[in-house]
Amino acid sequence: MDNKVTVRTLKKIKDNNEKFSVLTAYDYSTAKYFDESGIDVVLIGDSLAMTALGYENTNCVGVEEMTIFTKAVAKGVNRAMVVTDMPFMSYTIDIQSALKNIGNMVKNGANAVKLEGCNDYIEKLIECTINMGVPVMGHIGFTPQSQNVIGGHIIQGKTEDAADKLLKQAKRLEKAGVFSIVLEMVPEQVAKNITENISVPTISCGAGRYCDGFVMVCDDLFGKFDAFTPKFARRYGDMKTLITDCAKKYIEDIKSGDYPNENEVY
Ligand code: KIV
Repeated sequence: MDNKVTVRTLKKIKDNNEKFSVLTAYDYSTAKYFDESGIDVVLIGDSLAMTALGYENTNCVGVEEMTIFTKAVAKGVNRAMVVTDMPFMSYTIDIQSALKNIGNMVKNGANAVKLEGCNDYIEKLIECTINMGVPVMGHIGFTPQSQNVIGGHIIQGKTEDAADKLLKQAKRLEKAGVFSIVLEMVPEQVAKNITENISVPTISCGAGRYCDGFVMVCDDLFGKFDAFTPKFARRYGDMKTLITDCAKKYIEDIKSGDYPNENEVY
């Protein structure tokens, strides 16, 4: 497909001072409608641990589960770039097993993978992953897979030292070769400074208005997930009410004998 979104498309968008859109998706039809709507990147986020599987946090989801969701989403997408979040412990044990798990996502339809954090090991892994032929999206700031070490959902980069550390991490990831970097729960001015000082596109996940791209969890967009909604999420619908109303009406129609009617039988 000629207009397939690639790493080059996103770089061009940044260089042209334009913005790109990223949404998470966890199933075939949602991914298909997002793609038909013109979304640039579809992310099979490990947020699906909570939104699709009902787990307590992202650390509960594994490679096999992420593979199934990747396969479903990738089948629905033609134009957008498909990125899979590598789940907790699937890439941090050693490079060999990490590359095997990453390769598995690509075999199942991912165009790229997202890795959280920045340290010597992650830098080396990014280089090896790119050498294997797989583009890498970085993710710094609040990194949910390390929430137990961080001590909760806490805004990152608030002090001068912390902001400086984030900029250094972004530069390290840039040097390692990532094609984009998610900045999660970072003050707007800190994200702006990073965006202006690196050549790869930044993606705001609660990092304000000045990043090159923006990501949102689809269940927040839909108003479907009700356990919590982060400040930076904007609800564009009320799917919880829609689903509940549909189910209630269906139950009512069965009880009243209205469903099925004469046109709905063979
Ligand atoms: O898991 C996820 O959905 C994510 C995005 C919100 C960046 O990592």
